Amino acid sequence: MLTSTVRAVQWVNEGPKGGSCRLLDQKRLPSEENFHDYADYRLVSKAIADLTVRGAPAIGVAAAYAVVLAAQEACTLPENGRRAFFDDALHTIAVSRPTAVNLGWAVARMGGLATGRIDADLTARLLREALVIQEEDIAFNNRMARLGSDLLREPVAAMTYCNTGDLATGGVGTAFGVLRQGYVDGKVTHVYTCETRPVLQGLRLTAWELAKNKIPFTAICDNMAASVMRARKVGAVFVGADRIAANGDAANKVGTYALAVAAQFHRIPFYVVAPSSSFDLTLASGEGIPIEQRASEEIVGVLGSNRPPYAMSTFNPSFDVTPHELITAIICEKGVIVAPDTKKVEMVFR
Ligand code: MRU
Repeated sequence: MLTSTVRAVQWVNEGPKGGSCRLLDQKRLPSEENFHDYADYRLVSKAIADLTVRGAPAIGVAAAYAVVLAAQEACTLPENGRRAFFDDALHTIAVSRPTAVNLGWAVARMGGLATGRIDADLTARLLREALVIQEEDIAFNNRMARLGSDLLREPVAAMTYCNTGDLATGGVGTAFGVLRQGYVDGKVTHVYTCETRPVLQGLRLTAWELAKNKIPFTAICDNMAASVMRARKVGAVFVGADRIAANGDAANKVGTYALAVAAQFHRIPFYVVAPSSSFDLTLASGEGIPIEQRASEEIVGVLGSNRPPYAMSTFNPSFDVTPHELITAIICEKGVIVAPDTKKVEMVFR
């Protein structure tokens, strides 16, 4: 079983109200490794929005801890004001970011426990549930890592995109867990990590995790991926997902779709690795997945102080949707869905 090299999100029993959510500030990586403790749900919601904590399962776990913080704070209010405060807090947490369904899933699961009085008992139950959400994520990561590695028939160099490791989950990662397990098993020999513009999760975060795990890797710019495939340097692509629709269409970091198109052209298997908490079976297809639009600074900020002396229009969708036809298999803790479509997804979730 793989273990985390770093815990990007965790609950600590320290803080003014008896506990806090500890987050590694991913905006500062890899140059600084700073952990901060959050005792206010509003600050956790802000940390999710500004990418201090990011990656679909990790923001689900952080959201669950934020709900505990909201309950702690509600308990300091007169009893007749607690429900409105708590419900409002749940809403604030749930809308921190729109695309990763794990966020709304975690808030709904936590909120479902809070039907009665909001008191110290409920707060304790919510904390237990949030810890279970993280424990489950750890177990699911390991299960997917095993399933993914077992799919590889011979040793390959693999390509990945964005960041899907310890930093992006409660445990060892989705796609990254497969890469780690594959490396341990001798199935993954080398990893090509695409830099992942605009905010470089692949170059800043995945490269950092690969180095920490001593996995040989090569970082490439996103626009080099197709030519690396054409040169037969990679034998498989593994990515994560932020929301998977009932037909297997998968939203992930913008640029994933282009990788899937290139992989199909070059006949390279394209795998999506995601836990059941990343599925949204209320959506028939990827068309309904809300795509987060982010600030233009993320694009032009790379120019530093040399920003252009003119107004520049930008388009910055943070995610795109890969149609299920381009996906060789979805690796979920419930099983491997080969050539996913509505029927096969339904069978696994039945
Ligand atoms: O904007 P981010 O960094 O939160 O986007 C993260 C991704 O797109 C990951 O690939 C996704 O969450 C995969 S699951 C670990």
